[in-house]
Amino acid sequence: MAEEAVPLPLNLAEYEAAARAMLPRMAFDYIASGAHDEVTVRANRAAFAQWRLLPRMLAGVAAVDTTTTVLGQPVALPVLLAPTAFHRQAHPEGELATARGAKAAGTIFTLSTVATSAIEEVAPQAGPWWFQLYVYQDRAITRDLVQRAEAAGAAALVVTVDVPKLGRREADERNHFTLPPGVVAANFAQAGQQTLSDTSAGSGLTAYIGAQFDPALSWDDLAWLAGITKLPIIPKGILAPDDARLAFQNGARAIVVSNHGGRQLDSAVATLDALPAVVEAAQGQGEIYLDGGIRRGTDVLMALALGARAVLIGRPYVWGLAVGGAAGVQRVLSLLHEEIALDMLLCGCANVGAIDRALVVPVGPLRAGPTP
Ligand SMILES: Cc1cc2nc3c(=O)[nH]c(=O)nc-3n(C[C@H](O)[C@H](O)[C@H](O)COP(=O)(O)O)c2cc1C
Repeated sequence: MAEEAVPLPLNLAEYEAAARAMLPRMAFDYIASGAHDEVTVRANRAAFAQWRLLPRMLAGVAAVDTTTTVLGQPVALPVLLAPTAFHRQAHPEGELATARGAKAAGTIFTLSTVATSAIEEVAPQAGPWWFQLYVYQDRAITRDLVQRAEAAGAAALVVTVDVPKLGRREADERNHFTLPPGVVAANFAQAGQQTLSDTSAGSGLTAYIGAQFDPALSWDDLAWLAGITKLPIIPKGILAPDDARLAFQNGARAIVVSNHGGRQLDSAVATLDALPAVVEAAQGQGEIYLDGGIRRGTDVLMALALGARAVLIGRPYVWGLAVGGAAGVQRVLSLLHEEIALDMLLCGCANVGAIDRALVVPVGPLRAGPTP
């Protein structure tokens, strides 16, 4: 009997289901899980349900333009790939496939410090790409990463500021999370930085980060980084309006409003809930991006309406990678792209510049009078 063709997932949620069916439990749990009770994982999604779109009719829009720019770089859609660790546990081609998928979709790939393919291998496969930096206690290691990323052509440095220690992900503790044989943190030559060897107490990643990352990172370190690189610096993991202000005072060119997909501090504020106050505090000093829970085109429209320049996705493209390698990453992005284009048309928005605050209203009866 001929094998039945498996239908392609129709949306991002279906990619998660397809990936769950394929991946080993340890890998699936690592990608899916959040910290503690996953209150923030759910809150990130729930925040979008607090808003509704207020579409405009007869706007004379025949076709929409989904393109935008981030730090001057043109992208085909206002969705970028967030940095995520260890792609070779999802697919044998790892970050090389992800970079190709992002390039084909016309957007930016952010390569994680703890990638399983080295900076120099990924760069030739990538379109425009950013490097995500974790600051190691050993500043020589940190400096080396920054210099290698710059030399290889990264367009920006995304500095993750919400991991002084790893959030406690109980599934990883239970699974004694470690990498499959032959899969290593490929940006490092030394065993101490390459492998998650100590899984005796639970998650090997908790042990690794505890030993390697600098828990005492401060705004001075951001200044130090700005002094050793020409790349624009984008702190990732900002939630408080005062931190947004401080980031721009300390030389950030853009910020990512993020709670690490609910994987760090559980019960941290949902990113969409944090966004309006951050936008207000930033006073237009730089671009603001958001990640966490983006699963539909309408989520992207809401984030843009509330002041984000662009959004990033994490888990959904890793599911795409697991299911279909580079083509899977590209398809996840193209599904979102098509949704965004349809949603913009249905809202009467000809281009992303037309997505403004008037497009969203809080859940509940509309008030009479002009929209704010
Ligand atoms: C499997 C996985 C690995 C991640 N690894 C990193 C990382 O290495 N560096 C980082 O800054 N953020 C990392 N993140 C956080 C993402 O960059 C992003 O903030 C988050 O996934 C966005 O939420 P979403 O998954 O709901 O889209 C990771 C997230 C996941 C799911």
